[in-house]
Amino acid sequence: MPLKLIPLPYADDALAPAISAETLRTHHGKHHQGYIDKTNAAAEKLGLADASLEEIIAAAKTKGDKPAFDNAAQAWNHGFYWHSLSPAGGRPDGDLAAAIERDFGSVAALSDELQARGEKHFASGWVWLAATDGRLSVEETHDGDTLALGAKRPLLTIDLWEHAYYLDHKNARASYLKAVLGGLLDWGFAARNFAAAETWSYPGVTAEAV
Ligand code: FE2
Repeated sequence: MPLKLIPLPYADDALAPAISAETLRTHHGKHHQGYIDKTNAAAEKLGLADASLEEIIAAAKTKGDKPAFDNAAQAWNHGFYWHSLSPAGGRPDGDLAAAIERDFGSVAALSDELQARGEKHFASGWVWLAATDGRLSVEETHDGDTLALGAKRPLLTIDLWEHAYYLDHKNARASYLKAVLGGLLDWGFAARNFAAAETWSYPGVTAEAV
């Protein structure tokens, strides 16, 4: 059965003015929908019409089918990104807060590293907070690459493609990152992913089968 675009977990104007309704409608309704459509077409050709999105990513990687991999990975990354954001924001607490203090020194230091790595990232890609055997790190992936299959388990991600911020911040990626890091990251989502990192399951977050 084909994959279906997941709904945004908030209203399309919920993240404004940092991320406007126009950006979210285009990013979700056009870009993410496009990745889903191309993934479904690729899955059909690969004989994977009934596979999960994660299975399609893995198969495309194994077969060296880069277009299929890029579209499936982008479909996954965007589902993960929508859930990495929240108008409620908040701050890390519990085990995740303790791990951040241990591995970065403070939440502010982690935020500074996400900002700096996101600003310096060349061209398109993603910046992530990840966990490997309980240790936290900031990671970057380029273009359509993903942490969906790797040993580094993603906790949060921020989209660094220009389509994520150009309508609202023009070329100022730093301004977009500052706005996101200033209160739009869903630390509850990160904490749930941190707690589940060993079992690595994100049901319903990345794509829906229809
Ligand atoms: Fe994007």
